[in-house]
Order: sequence, then C-alpha cells, then structure tokens
Amino acid sequence: MEQTGIPQEKILEELNEKLKKDLTYESGKILGSMCTTPHEIAKKVMMMYPEKNLGDPGLFKGTQEIEIETIKMLGSLLNNPKSWGYMVSGGTEANIVAMRIARNIGRAKGKGGTPQVIVPVSAHASFDKAADLLDLRLIRIGLDQEYRVKISEVKKAITEKTIAIVGIAGTTSLGTIDPIEELSDIALENNLYLHVDAAFGGMVIPFLERLGHKLPKFDFRNKGVNSITIDPHKMGLAPIPAGGILLKDRKYILKNCFEIPYLAGGTYAHPIIIGTRPGATILATWATLKHLGIEGYTKIVKNCMEITQQLEKGIEQIQNIELATKPVINIVGITSKNLDICQIDEELRKQNWALGKFENILRIVVMPHVKKQHIQQFLKDLEQITKKIQ
Ligand SMILES: Cc1ncc(COP(=O)(O)O)c(C=O)c1O
Repeated sequence: MEQTGIPQEKILEELNEKLKKDLTYESGKILGSMCTTPHEIAKKVMMMYPEKNLGDPGLFKGTQEIEIETIKMLGSLLNNPKSWGYMVSGGTEANIVAMRIARNIGRAKGKGGTPQVIVPVSAHASFDKAADLLDLRLIRIGLDQEYRVKISEVKKAITEKTIAIVGIAGTTSLGTIDPIEELSDIALENNLYLHVDAAFGGMVIPFLERLGHKLPKFDFRNKGVNSITIDPHKMGLAPIPAGGILLKDRKYILKNCFEIPYLAGGTYAHPIIIGTRPGATILATWATLKHLGIEGYTKIVKNCMEITQQLEKGIEQIQNIELATKPVINIVGITSKNLDICQIDEELRKQNWALGKFENILRIVVMPHVKKQHIQQFLKDLEQITKKIQ
C-alpha cells in the first residue's frame, strides 16, 4: 500500500488504464458468458446503497423486507409465491445450500453411509464442490440424444443411500431441460429430495412459456420439487452477486439454520453460507424485477431467441461444423465431426471472440448484449476459420 494517499482522479485514471485489458459486453465479443451488463436501474440502485449488509439484517430491516419481496417475486415466477428462500452469491452457493439441506433431511431419515446424490453428467461443477464440502457421493447419469438425463438410468441408480435427485433446467453447456416432471414422480415414489438447478433457465423458461414455447414444466408445479436455484445475475440483468435459492417449504429452512447470536441487529439464523452479504445487489435485483416486469423480461427473452435462431441458421450453413442439438433456450452448442473444436476455439480467441469450451462443444450464450450485427460478424469469422483449418 502507498505511504501517502493518491488523489482520486489519478486513481481513476490508473484504474481506467488497467481495465483496458478486460473484454467488454458492449464489444459483442463475449459470446460465452451467462452474465451481462446490468440494467440501468440496477446500476443506479447498486451505487446508492453500497453499505447495506444483510449479514446483519436486524440493522437493515427495510433491506431485509425487500429481500423477502424479491424472493416472493421469484417464487411466483416459479409458480409458488409461498416458497421461502434467500438471495445468495450465485448458483454455486444456492446449489451447495440445497445439497446441505437434502443431506440433513437424509440424515434425519436415518440413512447411513456416504449419502448419494443422483445428478446428470451435465450438472454444473458446483455439485462437485457441494459433494466435496458435504461428503456426498455423486452418482452421475448419462444423457439421451437430446442431452437430457436418462430417466430409466435415474430409476436404476436409486439405492438405500440415495438422499436426493438433481435435475437441470437450462444446462450450462447446451441449455437443455431435464424431464423434471418425471424426476418429480420418481422423487415422490421414493421419498427423495428433488432439487432443480434453474440457475440460468429460471429467468428464461417462464418467459418462453409465455411466448408459446412448449417446454417441460420445470418448477414448483411439480409436487416433488423441493428447491430451485434461480440466478437474477444471469438473464435477470441484476448486478453480480445475485443468486437465489428457493425452497418449497419453510420447515426445511428452519431445521437447517446456523444461528449467529452476537450481531448488533440481534440474533440471526439462516441456512446460507456467507455471512456479510451485499444488500445493494438485492435492492438492485428487486428494482430490476419490478421495473421490467413480466412484459419487459418476455420482450428481452424474445429478442434473445430471435438472435439464437439467426445463429442457428448461420451455423447450419457452414460446412464441417454443426449444432450439437437444436437449441431450446438461448444457448447454442457448436460441434464438428471433422475439425478440432479446440483449434477452432484457439483461432476464434485470436480474434477476441470469447466462447465457452466444453468437451467437443463450443458454447454460445445469446445474452441481451449479443446483437444481430455481432452474430453476423461472428459467423463470417467462423466460416473463414473452418476453411483455413480444414
Ligand atoms: C446450471 C448452472 N448452475 C449453477 C451455476 C453456477 O452459478 P454461479 O457461477 O453464479 O455460481 C451455473 C453457472 O454457469 C450454471 O450454468
């Protein structure tokens, strides 16, 4: 640290200079991120209340009430306004919290040995983190031709040590939606906890349904669903960090809280991982949800899907590459039988295109910052690269 402080303008200049290395969403080059520029109202609100700390909610009762209202809005989007939950740091924390509650419920049922959780192979790495932290064993289930978990394999994988099943609504690599309705039936038949990871899809699928897309019912309409991860800092245009964990029943939470007795605002009990927690991003999420409303989000999702279709058609016209599967939401996977996907990715990166890379798949997430002209340019560059390396 400096001995003598530096004037503010000089610091801002230096910061500006150093951050020139960052890619920006406005450039349109970021095609592989699930985050985007937050909405204007989100930025404004976030800057207004940086000191709000929901780690000590007794001091910030108004902020806490807004968190509850935010959870209610997300709950009604997921067809259960009575669900209870918390705003957390993101999908990773939400999934870990859900797995901890599932493990504790399993323990309370007297299940012995290392608890087993059935997850699709498409599950996000946060489940590996949860397994490591909570001493769980993941039983990984393969996917069908449309990259959804194989239901028959899920049934076969259940043992006396199984405590939970996980389904994904909007997988990280391809955006596919597992047959949650069938998973719900299996969970109910076997008295198992069912968690749905809709970290990305939760802020997309409800609006696609309103646009008439026929998609699997992924939310609390299914009686077997116990909890859902939904992240406003992805398609919700909220600032980072703004994740959400919603539980069907408040009793699961009450039995699984850590009590913090020393706080200035009074004792606080919660089941989440972090302590000091930004209120500002939650206030900004609340403001964005209220400002955009169902209509605003539906319009944004419609636009993203139109650009997704533009990309889909463009990929189909380029030789030697193909779609991994037909996109169901605004995520597109590119694969190839003849060309090396890693080489394509390397060449794209030389031109500053930043895509997600999965085993044999390049992923594009058509976020609101991705415009038609960006996709046109991308398709041109991609076609040239495939010609160059074949
Ligand atoms: C399906 C899914 N779940 C969970 C996560 C983790 O979210 P976060 O990075 O906000 O912790 C992601 C992130 O991409 C995801 O795609």
